[in-house]
Amino acid sequence: MTYAIQELVIRHVSPFDTEEITNLVADAMWDGPVARWMQPDMLVRRNNTSRYFEIFVEHALRHGEVYSTADADDGRMSGVALWFPLTAMIPPPVDYERRLKEASDTAFDRAQQLDAVLDENHPLEPHHYLAFLAVRPGEQNRGIGSALLDRHHARLDRAGLPAYLEANDPRNRDLYLRHGYQVRSVIELPDGPPLWCMWRAPMA
Ligand SMILES: CC(C)(COP(=O)(O)OP(=O)(O)OC[C@H]1O[C@@H](n2cnc3c(N)ncnc32)[C@H](O)[C@@H]1OP(=O)(O)O)[C@@H](O)C(=O)NCCC(=O)NCCS
Repeated sequence: MTYAIQELVIRHVSPFDTEEITNLVADAMWDGPVARWMQPDMLVRRNNTSRYFEIFVEHALRHGEVYSTADADDGRMSGVALWFPLTAMIPPPVDYERRLKEASDTAFDRAQQLDAVLDENHPLEPHHYLAFLAVRPGEQNRGIGSALLDRHHARLDRAGLPAYLEANDPRNRDLYLRHGYQVRSVIELPDGPPLWCMWRAPMA
């Protein structure tokens, strides 16, 4: 069951939080369909996932907008949303190819393949891009992801800006449909899972 959290505190995070955010994103995503496609070996995947996501977390903290929620009991970060405002050019992560190679190891070819198809399908119109939305396993399904989405969508709606993301499984695709996104196209990764490219027009 999904329910709204009444007093959820959502804050902007700072570069000091890089490790905590990276670990949260890795814990939520390491066994997802795309991660499994990229690196089928479970142990290698578990070991390498943080280094992979760290590249994008650092990049988002430098060029994007990152929000997090904290657990009411122990103050631990419970959910995080990493947005990139693609209303202006954002450079690629510093030293990207070398870092990607180190982080993805034997999955480097697939990591590059993934980047290429995501780039090919990425809309050119100005928008905000939700690169990652992640909620700590064990805290999922309590309304945290929805609260993080609502927070940024309210801002986009005021500014009249659209949003874009790729959903990596039918369950989160349905969550995004409920938040006003529509499927624009579907990417079929070679021998892998589908990715739903989703667009949300601003609401009045
Ligand atoms: C997807 C995710 C961010 C949603 O956050 P949340 O706080 O759990 O979501 P909410 O409680 O606001 O909404 C619940 C809905 O989220 C989706 N959801 C919940 N857990 C999910 C999971 N493990 N995987 C995929 N979608 C999930 C479902 O649509 C769910 O509704 P349902 O129970 O009727 O199917 C979170 O579950 C998560 O981090 N999942 C794993 C990583 C992931 O899939 N990230 C999105 C990448 S595109």
